[in-house]
Formats: sequence, C-alpha cells, structure tokens
Amino acid sequence: MRLLVTGAAGFIGTNFVRQALEAGGTAASRVERLVAVDLLTYAGNFANLADLSADTHFRFERLDIAQRDAMEGLLREERLDTIVNFAAESHVDRSIADQAPFLHTNLHGTLALLDAARTVGGVRRFLQVSTDEVYGSIAEGRATEEWAARPSSPYAASKTAADAFVLAYATTFDVPAVITRCSNNYGPYQFPEKLIPLFVTNALDGHPLPLYGDGQNVRDWIHVSDHCAALWHVLELPGAEGGIFNVSAEDERPNRAVTDLILRLTGRPPDLVRYVTDRPGHDRRYALDAGRLRATGWRPRHGFEDGLAATVEWYRAHRPWWEGVKSGAYREYYRETYGARLRDASGAPPGTAPRS
Ligand code: NAD
Ligand code: TYD
Repeated sequence: MRLLVTGAAGFIGTNFVRQALEAGGTAASRVERLVAVDLLTYAGNFANLADLSADTHFRFERLDIAQRDAMEGLLREERLDTIVNFAAESHVDRSIADQAPFLHTNLHGTLALLDAARTVGGVRRFLQVSTDEVYGSIAEGRATEEWAARPSSPYAASKTAADAFVLAYATTFDVPAVITRCSNNYGPYQFPEKLIPLFVTNALDGHPLPLYGDGQNVRDWIHVSDHCAALWHVLELPGAEGGIFNVSAEDERPNRAVTDLILRLTGRPPDLVRYVTDRPGHDRRYALDAGRLRATGWRPRHGFEDGLAATVEWYRAHRPWWEGVKSGAYREYYRETYGARLRDASGAPPGTAPRS
C-alpha cells in the first residue's frame, strides 16, 4: 500500500501510523509508503510522530485537507493508492461553541479529498473514518448500518454530511470509498478534552472531575488499537466499496461507572467528582451492532478494565506529554468550558441529597 493518512498527528491517526511503522508494527509489511498529513491544529501534535521521521517509508506534511490542489499534488507525486481520512474537528463541546471549523474540515475537507481522489485516479480505497454519533441517541437496541442518521450535535451533523458525500461519490463517480463508524475510543495520545484522558489527568493531579448531568449517559467503549486494527482489516476487505462498517467492542457503560474505575485506578477519593451543568443536546446513549464487521473475521482484543488500566499507566508514564498539551490555549479553553460550571457544581447528582 502507498497510503495517504490525514489527521495523522491526532489521537487515532497517531495510533494508526505507529501501528504501521513502529518496530514490530502489525501492519508494517503491508506499507510501502506512508504520507502523513496534518494541519496541526490544537489537537494535532507532531511530537507524536517525530521519532518516525528517520523511517524512509514515512513523510510528514503540514497541510489543510481542504486545499484540494495540495492533496492532488501529493497523490500524484507519491503515486498513492490508499487514503485514510482521520482529519477532523472531533470534540462535541467545541462544535457547540463554534461550528465553523467543523464545517470546514469535516465537510469541505472531506469533499476536497474526494475530488482529489476522483481527479487523480489510481486510488484503490478511500476510507472515511466516521463515528457512531451519526446515529444519534439510541434509546433501545444497538444501531446497525441500516439505521437512519439522526445527528444531535453540530459535530455529528458535520460527520453525517461528510458520510453522505462519500456515499454519493462512490455511487456517482465510482470513488472506491468505504465508511467505518466507530464507537468512543480511549488509549494513548488522546487529547485531554475527551472524558477519559481529561478525568485520568485531572485525577492524577487531584483536580475535580466535571461529570455532566446525572452522570448516567452511556457510551460504548473501544481501545484505540482495536479500532486501528479494524481499519487495517477493512482496508483489505475485498468488495467493501460503497459499504459501511460499524466498529465496536459492544461494551457500554454509564459515565459514572467509568469515572469510578478511573478513581480506583488512580487511587483518588469519590469527592473529586463534581456534577456540573449538562451539555446541551447531550446524547443519552450510544450503542453499536458490529455484527457485519465481526462476520468478516475482525475481533477486538482489549477488555475495558484492562485497557483502561493500561491507559492510566500510559498517562502516568507520559506526564510531560500531557502537561505540555494542557498548557497555553488549553487553559483558556478549560476556564471557558468548566470555570462557571465548577463553581456551581455539586458532589451529588442533580435532585439528590449531597453525600455527607
Ligand atoms: P483528534 O481531534 O485527536 O485528531 C484530529 C486531527 O486532525 C488533529 O491532528 C488535527 O490537527 C487534524 N486536523 C484538523 N483539521 C485538519 C485539516 N483541515 N487538515 C488536516 N488536518 C486537520 O481526533 P481523533 O479522536 O483522532 O479522531 C480522528 C477521526 O476519528 C475523526 O474523523 C473522528 O471523527 C473519528 N472518530 C473518533 C472517535 C473517538 O472516540 N475519538 C470515534 C469515532 C470516530
Ligand atoms: P466525550 O469524551 O466528549 O465523547 P462524546 O463525543 O461521546 O460526547 O464525552 C463522553 C461522555 O462523557 C459524554 O456522555 C459526555 C461526558 N463528559 C462529561 O461528563 N464530562 C466531561 O468533562 C466530558 C468532556 C464529557
């Protein structure tokens, strides 16, 4: 494979690239060339990939995927035959504050990449990395790929719009595209704005854990290395063009239960938990049916308790990584998102008496 990986310096992109190129990487034998592109927004961190620069298979370019000419140039120059599109604005709370960058990267960026692939030709697979959030909140059962999209947040709406264009380009222009929709990821290199890395790093520092609403919203968790293995699997699946594959370990948990596990793994007391004002439009539950992918032979390898314990150890061992990420503009973001909410917070869920 000669790959273009976009959003390569973000959380999942980093894990995917490292799975390919690290010594003993499980996908190494399949990769002839890997061109990594990332705009290095607040969420992208070149340091994640810096040690790979000596690898002759690897090249990094700081670029915006919405620059269609630049994407075309790279595809031509490097004779790339596979595109994996991770590049995105990915945080729901930020999309509520300002949807503009979400529309730019998630929709216009994906469209520019699709057009580049169509124009240049030679691309054998275009993998769009999408999300379970396109299905919206799931009251009962598990969403299959046949379910209609019902996005709740501006983030989810932008990913849904991108998915629609990917399918339209597959149908209309024969772009050999496939979509994966994965559940919530956790693991090394995740930006500490998402639930698990935020709570793990706050807990390690003895800082409050701001739990939204009643803490009973449910997410379906998967270790990032299992997601990446699924992507490698789908890249090589014959006849997948035009298809959608849910990716999930089918392991759903209420946020409070995840928080309690983090407290146990970091040795912190329950009074660190602060119930704060809920996120507007907060989806109550995500749950995916991954039967279609499982039927092709993919299986997750990590159980949640072990995967979370290993993740806590990674953050414990990589304090300089997250202290660097949590400085500068992050402090301003944290103040704006949590400052007032934490001042008004309670140690007990709304409508219940505080624990004594
Ligand atoms: P992330 O925010 O950690 O990384 C996104 C990366 O994209 C960053 O490195 C950023 O610099 C880069 N980027 C942003 N705009 C860009 C642009 N215009 N051009 C080039 N690069 C740009 O996100 P993540 O958690 O690694 O998610 C990666 C993908 O996986 C996203 O498409 C997301 O929707 C999808 N996804 C994530 C999860 C999850 O739980 N994190 C679950 C399912 C799907
Ligand atoms: P998040 O990691 O932002 O992912 P999602 O895209 O699924 O919303 O949030 C996961 C869950 O954790 C979600 O129900 C919102 C909740 N949450 C909190 O309770 N507090 C927080 O500070 C954050 C960031 C999330």
